[in-house]
Amino acid sequence: MKRETMERFRALVYDMSGINLGDKKEALVSARIGKRMRALNLETPEDYLHYVESSGDQAELVQLIDAISTNVTSFFREADHFQFLAEVCEKWRAAGQRRFRVWSAASSSGEEPYSIAMTMLDTLGSECDVRILATDISTKVLAQARAGLYAPQRVAGCDRATVLRHFQKEVNGAVQYSVRPAVRRLCVFKQLNLSQPPFPMRGPLDVVFCRNVMIYFDARVRLALLREIHRLLKPGGYLCVGHAESLTGLDHNFTTVRPSICRKD
Ligand SMILES: C[S@@+](CC[C@H](N)C(=O)[O-])C[C@H]1O[C@@H](n2cnc3c(N)ncnc32)[C@H](O)[C@@H]1O
Repeated sequence: MKRETMERFRALVYDMSGINLGDKKEALVSARIGKRMRALNLETPEDYLHYVESSGDQAELVQLIDAISTNVTSFFREADHFQFLAEVCEKWRAAGQRRFRVWSAASSSGEEPYSIAMTMLDTLGSECDVRILATDISTKVLAQARAGLYAPQRVAGCDRATVLRHFQKEVNGAVQYSVRPAVRRLCVFKQLNLSQPPFPMRGPLDVVFCRNVMIYFDARVRLALLREIHRLLKPGGYLCVGHAESLTGLDHNFTTVRPSICRKD
């Protein structure tokens, strides 16, 4: 790919999503856009760039972001966050709280918000008013999340009791596990671009999971996002970030309570 083409892809991706493609990402970009080029019958990266830039097609821009970003996720990933969520919900309920609002800010194909919903259902029962807002920039993963249907290897990380309680085994040719309605009805899925605050939500939120997405952003985008999450959280509310993500060096207002969990005071 020509250097100038790569620079323009870099600018497009950054302006659209805040994703910062470092210097050594040319091979990754070439490999990932190949699929879109074939789907659109285009021959060179320059043809595809021209298509994206000139069509003004937002949907194709989202497809490009989809191709570039990774959607890797799993049920109960970074399990200590779910244990923490259960502990804090139990504490708030004991103090009389009945309404709980949680945001899964980069929900990918749904494993994270459904794990949050399962944890809250197991901890709070069905008497409390619980809502989980699940957002992602990618319409493709949001459609998978809404379908709530997973291959056996995707649920392999859940313990047996969780699978029995929260999934329905379906056999339509292949075996799949569908998330039970009691869990699904707690989750609302919406498209949202985390690089463009302010967001159209009112809050106040009790807990925000914003995990394994900030690694793709530069300090400017990260900081704006952290300030917006801070605005939306209730005082005493918590933010969980990915274990590989560090907030050090950023001028945010959170208090760190554990390495990947912080609180709005
Ligand atoms: C690696 S997955 C993380 C999924 C989940 N949070 C977890 O930790 O397992 C990253 C997700 O961030 C989404 N993403 C990337 N840039 C985004 C943006 N600007 N706004 C919203 N979502 C974005 C991607 O589409 C992808 O689904």
